Amino acid sequence: MSSVRVCIRGTGSYVPENVLTNQDLMRIVDTTDEWITTRTGIKERRIAPDHSATSDLATPAAEKALAAAGLDPVDLDLILVGTATPDMVFPSTACILQANLGAKKAVGFDLSAACSGFLYSLSVGASFLKGGVYRNALVIGAETLTSITDWTERRTAVLFGDGAGAVVITPAEDESCIEAINLYSDGNLTHLLHMPAGGSRMPPSHETVDKNLHVITMEGREVFKHAVKLMTSAMEETLSDADVTAGDLDLLIPHQANLRIMEAVAKRLRIPIEKVFVNVDRYGNTSAASVPIALDEAVRSGRIGKGSLIGTVVFGGGFTWASAVVRI
Ligand code: UT7
Repeated sequence: MSSVRVCIRGTGSYVPENVLTNQDLMRIVDTTDEWITTRTGIKERRIAPDHSATSDLATPAAEKALAAAGLDPVDLDLILVGTATPDMVFPSTACILQANLGAKKAVGFDLSAACSGFLYSLSVGASFLKGGVYRNALVIGAETLTSITDWTERRTAVLFGDGAGAVVITPAEDESCIEAINLYSDGNLTHLLHMPAGGSRMPPSHETVDKNLHVITMEGREVFKHAVKLMTSAMEETLSDADVTAGDLDLLIPHQANLRIMEAVAKRLRIPIEKVFVNVDRYGNTSAASVPIALDEAVRSGRIGKGSLIGTVVFGGGFTWASAVVRI
């Protein structure tokens, strides 16, 4: 095991200005503010402007993280983008971002792990740093989920939003930042949360468009049950790997999919809800962007600071899930 430790040096996030409230949604699908609020905790979400793409959200988030870390784009060796909504099937959004930032010497690639994309990318980035391959890495979770939202289906239309979050990681000089990180997958449950068409299985055609197959399709209740169980066990395992307890955490940052999932996971971990970061009310589920946006908001609002111990846990399509314990 390498003795190199990896630290988060700076965070940044960006959400589009356009707000879609529950009241606005009531004009689009058969729903109520009361249903959305009580079942999900969501009050509003942000929507990227027409013709903008994931890299347009990721670029300002990355610039803020670089500024917070005191690094120039040319210092970057690696850019990783966790996303389920890349600008294009290829090239990668990371390559587009590299050009936008002017990060001339950085290598960039995307990572597909749906809502778990940020923690998957963080783990991969940290491994490169621990192995001594690269020094300065930019890790991003960014999504334009509203581009694949079915605006005719009330069960999913109310859930998603757009945004991006970023961190800069470097080898730690005197302290450990990423204390433990674990990734998990179960490909047997793919059918419960996926976008059917647009890939090689079902390339875009008039038929796939007519059948409305280029949108997020989810068995919400099944996903909910798995999310609560697997997020809890993942967090428990990662706390144990980091040799700390849930009581040692200053803040839990769970994937912001549904307030009821966060409350259920916190209860099982015996973490009081006051120690759980929640912004799902303002942004809805932004998939891979949810944890890095929350982390950035927690840092910038002063809710966590130098020395704070954070647990984070995510869950998404694949299924994929992941957990980390990080000292800021
Ligand atoms: O980020 C990846 C991970 N994703 C998640 O973690 C999402 C996990 N799932 C969930 O968060 C919840 O399952 C949902 C919020 C998606 C749905 O909540 P639920 O309590 O599981 O509701 P449900 O799907 O079982 O639907 C209950 C009822 C249904 O009516 P009937 O069949 O009982 O008459 C739905 O038709 O609520 C109805 N319903 C709605 N009513 C008003 C579903 N969506 C809506 C809506 N407005 N938007």
